[in-house]
Amino acid sequence: MIKPANLYLQYKSQKKEIDKAILKIISNNSFIGGDEVKKFENNFKKRIGSRYCVACGNGTDALLASVKSLGFKSKIKNEVITTSHTWFSTASAITNAGGKVIFCDTEKDSYNISVNEIEKKVTKRTSGIVIVHLFGQPAQIEKILQLANKYKLWVIEDCAQAHFIKKNKKYLGNFGHIGTFSFYPGKNLGAMGDAGAIITNNKRLRNLCIMHLRHGGQRKHEHLLEGLNSRLDGLQAAILNIKLRKIDTWNKKREIIAKEYLKNLSNLSAIKLPISNIKRNAHGFHQFVIKAKKRDELRKFLYSKKINTLIHYPKILPFVPAYKYQKNKKKEFPNSLKNQRLVLSLPIYPELKIKEVRYISRMIKKFYKF
Ligand SMILES: Cc1ncc(COP(=O)(O)O)c(C=O)c1O
Repeated sequence: MIKPANLYLQYKSQKKEIDKAILKIISNNSFIGGDEVKKFENNFKKRIGSRYCVACGNGTDALLASVKSLGFKSKIKNEVITTSHTWFSTASAITNAGGKVIFCDTEKDSYNISVNEIEKKVTKRTSGIVIVHLFGQPAQIEKILQLANKYKLWVIEDCAQAHFIKKNKKYLGNFGHIGTFSFYPGKNLGAMGDAGAIITNNKRLRNLCIMHLRHGGQRKHEHLLEGLNSRLDGLQAAILNIKLRKIDTWNKKREIIAKEYLKNLSNLSAIKLPISNIKRNAHGFHQFVIKAKKRDELRKFLYSKKINTLIHYPKILPFVPAYKYQKNKKKEFPNSLKNQRLVLSLPIYPELKIKEVRYISRMIKKFYKF
């Protein structure tokens, strides 16, 4: 079976180094905190070009601590605008931080939040915007920042799917007030368990994020507020330090795979390919998402040919049960609702072989009798 991602193959390529690092952590008893965590925070911030990096337990906590640190204009001016098409955490972090989620439709083909729609949703009660660079495709971050400046809003970039992807020569995550990352195993940079991080250039925000992630203090036994207990463990940090060395190579491999899909499937009118500007390195291809006619039949057919695909995501957030209370109206989300019925994520990971990409492409053509 061709899997959506194959992490064992990735481990095999660095087995010696990873095994050695794990043994070292165990023999040094540095399971929580320690040198590897500090090293990772330093490595990550240097590589990505931010002033500060705070590691934490996962990407969800990174978002939650960021929203809490940026805060709200007042108890009732607590609206935060975010995209309808994303993973659940992007929205739940807002509510869990005490805010009110305001969902916004997406652009038709990039799947990212629509700048025009954001402006329609801004009110006197809006405090901030959480954007996502979905599937590794940069959102229109410069225009979003202009809008944020106009209305005095903060911006968080959820970069869980966009590690080390540049827009106009700057890595994503450095545009807004805070950038958040998940190192969930299947991400472009993935740990061997849960892990996450926050980046920012603002010292005050960095200190607040630390407090929100570490029981309310910068140091042990300091509890200035009721924070989370969210930290990167030593094992994950050691693994991430090793994997970080390869992120550019792996992103390049994803790009080569994406180019092969784009070449093989370009004449097929039944599917819409991801829009990309590979020349400017403007897509991280965390997922290679097509829009497919007869999507569910195609998915079943591919499965019968030993190709496992995924759907990101089966239901857009305004209509999942957790947000039923918002009574969201379908007519406000035309693009994301339509995309929800069509999107299909084809296997993509650095170790996927070109001959497998060709086989997958052939099977898609076969299904459509092309
Ligand atoms: C867009 C987005 N935001 C946030 C997260 C949450 O990250 P984590 O699973 O590390 O909590 C994910 C993870 O899938 C994600 O894809």
